[in-house]
Amino acid sequence: MTTNSSLISIQRSTDTKKKPPQDQLGFGIYYTDHMFVMDYSVGQGWHDPRIIPYQPLVLDPAAKVFHYGQTIFEGLKAYKTADDRIQLFRPRDNFQRMNRSNDRMSVPELDIDMAMAALEQLIAVDREWIPSLEGTSLYIRPFVIATQPTLGVAPSEHYQFIIIMSPVGAYYPEGINPVKIHVESDYVRAVPGGSGEAKTAGNYASALKSQQAAKEQGYTQVLWLDGKQHKYIEEVGSMNVFFKIGGTVYTPALTGSILHGITRDSVIRLLKHWGIPVEERMLAIDELYEAGRNGTLEEAFGTGTAAVISPIGEMNWNGEKLIIGEGKTGQLSKSVYDTLTGIQTGAVADPFGWTQQV
Ligand code: COI
Repeated sequence: MTTNSSLISIQRSTDTKKKPPQDQLGFGIYYTDHMFVMDYSVGQGWHDPRIIPYQPLVLDPAAKVFHYGQTIFEGLKAYKTADDRIQLFRPRDNFQRMNRSNDRMSVPELDIDMAMAALEQLIAVDREWIPSLEGTSLYIRPFVIATQPTLGVAPSEHYQFIIIMSPVGAYYPEGINPVKIHVESDYVRAVPGGSGEAKTAGNYASALKSQQAAKEQGYTQVLWLDGKQHKYIEEVGSMNVFFKIGGTVYTPALTGSILHGITRDSVIRLLKHWGIPVEERMLAIDELYEAGRNGTLEEAFGTGTAAVISPIGEMNWNGEKLIIGEGKTGQLSKSVYDTLTGIQTGAVADPFGWTQQV
């Protein structure tokens, strides 16, 4: 399946917005002047690719996305280098993952070359929106929604693929300081064979109740355990997790209910490149707590596009608190953060070929 990228039409905004101060961006609050939209209809495929001024969508209230949640999203970032170049980080991997999620949710596949062309042109139109202050970037949110206005439960025959962009700072209010994580014991995020590894809205909606409860107790996020035995560590929802125990770094294996994090994969490759042992395996929560009690748990951190590298300073599982690394950012978390953000912003050499100039 191919779509002709030279057919992307561009309608420029005549009413450009004032850019927010770069030290007050937060996450996902401000949006650039333009967006990319492309339609899909059964029989016609993806068609009418266009860049238009950022604007509300007009959808029929019966559109399937509102009723049956047939929708997928992605998240990636564009960075400004010190010498004013623009870099993306592993963008094709995001569109590949999007197609994997699409497949799970019966959404038609995207042509990755077309999606890349759309993204590059949109960034070129809104390039002035990429912030340059340390710790900031342009967060890119591609998503697909099912637009057919019929209430029968069946895959939609019409979709829109949309890309919006938002200048952002840190995802968590803690910035790069350690976050506190509440381990969820009652609810589960995903089960084997479910949609846990797809980036689809329902996974996030069903997590909100626990997240809210955790927040009320002073925790930033929820750590999910496996849906079958409530025993093995899975992910946080906005990030994958890593634990340094006795010199080895452990991260939960991708068992089908965990997101295939691109930052996760990058960190594994970076650690191996540094000669640090990394094991992807099922890790029981009581094994982690035991390591915490006997002093071999050295560091913990989360990884994600939005979260970047986020040190975990405290966990709470069934009321038992675990303070990790005295609640401070560990040496390894800091090195991974500095190297990864250095590669992303062009300050550090990229021996892996992860960055792509646009
Ligand atoms: C990302 O890191 O891009 C994510 O998708 C996490 C998000 C839910 C904020």
